[in-house]
Amino acid sequence: MNTIAHKDILSAHTERFACKSFKKESKITDKDLRFILEIARLSPSSIGLEPWKFLVIKDKQLREKLRPSCWDQKQITEASDLIAILSRTKKSLFEHNYIKEHFIARDKEYARYIDFINTLPNIDEWTKRQCYIALANIMSSAKMIGIDSCAIEGFNSSKEIAEILDIDTEQFDVAVMVTLGYRDMPITPKSRLEFDTVVQMLT
Ligand SMILES: Cc1cc2nc3c(=O)[nH]c(=O)nc-3n(C[C@H](O)[C@H](O)[C@H](O)COP(=O)(O)O)c2cc1C
Repeated sequence: MNTIAHKDILSAHTERFACKSFKKESKITDKDLRFILEIARLSPSSIGLEPWKFLVIKDKQLREKLRPSCWDQKQITEASDLIAILSRTKKSLFEHNYIKEHFIARDKEYARYIDFINTLPNIDEWTKRQCYIALANIMSSAKMIGIDSCAIEGFNSSKEIAEILDIDTEQFDVAVMVTLGYRDMPITPKSRLEFDTVVQMLT
């Protein structure tokens, strides 16, 4: 693989910002959207479980309906695209046999994975955490191809969103959402803690 220049990666991460205002008329091409979703699909997850689903909400009426439940954030209806990242529920993993089928399909012994998952204090939260890895990859890869984004945790409750989107809540929960499009506002300058405040080297 050709390596990407440090400066290009750094500028993508510096210029990625929480975009709250998108150009309504500027749409992401299907090719670019599929590229971003492919990056999401390739994301790593604990034990390789891939406990997610990427729900792309194209339907305009559904997006209008979602907006009040998402703190009336205008990007919900104005961004080119909206993706809800769904996490698998504990029920889906065990009662609906997702773990078993996932690992059998990969020719792997699943018993030890079940043992591991059973040690987790909150399985539903754990699957959501995996979704945030995909979220980060979505936002970074989008910026690398010139697309702005904003993660959306600002919604009333996952239950409310699931109801609007007619999600089978036995199987999936809404972990987080993300809007994508082209900015209609200046890039917000980065405000971050100093490197030495957040990085500690144990030598
Ligand atoms: C998981 C997550 C959820 C977020 N939810 C929202 C949201 O609902 N609405 C919003 O305007 N910004 C949201 N943000 C954006 C953050 O406020 C923003 O990323 C943070 O202030 C840092 O700014 P920057 O992304 O511009 O560097 C979210 C960010 C993350 C990572």
